[in-house]
Amino acid sequence: MLYYRQEDNPFTANVMSDKISSNVQQYYLFLSSSPAATFSLGKQVGERLEAGSILALIGELGCGKTLFTKGLCVGLGVPERYVTSPTFVFINEYLGRLPVFHIDLYRLNTIDEEFDIGILDYLAKADTGVIVVEWAEKILSLLPDDYLRVQFQVLSARRRQLALVGFGKKFGNLLRKLGDQ
Ligand SMILES: Nc1ncnc2c1ncn2[C@@H]1O[C@H](COP(=O)(O)OP(=O)(O)O)[C@@H](O)[C@H]1O
Ligand SMILES: [Mg+2]
Repeated sequence: MLYYRQEDNPFTANVMSDKISSNVQQYYLFLSSSPAATFSLGKQVGERLEAGSILALIGELGCGKTLFTKGLCVGLGVPERYVTSPTFVFINEYLGRLPVFHIDLYRLNTIDEEFDIGILDYLAKADTGVIVVEWAEKILSLLPDDYLRVQFQVLSARRRQLALVGFGKKFGNLLRKLGDQ
């Protein structure tokens, strides 16, 4: 496992191309060389999350979004066996140190107004808990100013790059602490 932080912006358009990129405050790059390393990073993030956190997970099928979420939930005190991919049910709710709303938009093809309202309802619940959204690229425009984006890239069979990007000010401390380790 290797992790590092860079002061210069290492991102190309795939991370920063959307209109809210100017709201990026802090970021942290992590190179994972095993499923366990991805789980462990998720756990470290989960241990530090505060109520009102929204996490947007972005990346192709099999990049590790659900595995990262399992680590995150364990870090929040949710037993790992409760955390399953909500691909067919759309949303799972767990109760750890905080309530966790685990949303998976894989099967979402069209977005209509009703869906928007449903998602916004959940995003409003983030006040008291944590919301994790897999396939969040499908709803970027609905996300609030403050959220943590986790952008995954598959580098090889076991290697992944995770870019944790803090939008708004809320995640600055967390990202700094990850970088200081
Ligand atoms: N470094 C790694 N980090 C995360 N997953 C990895 C890694 N190397 C291999 N894998 C495998 O990739 C798959 C990731 O699955 P999953 O977390 O369900 O992905 P997603 O939710 O993004 O579709 C698992 O089978 C896992 O064992
Ligand atoms: Mg998944």
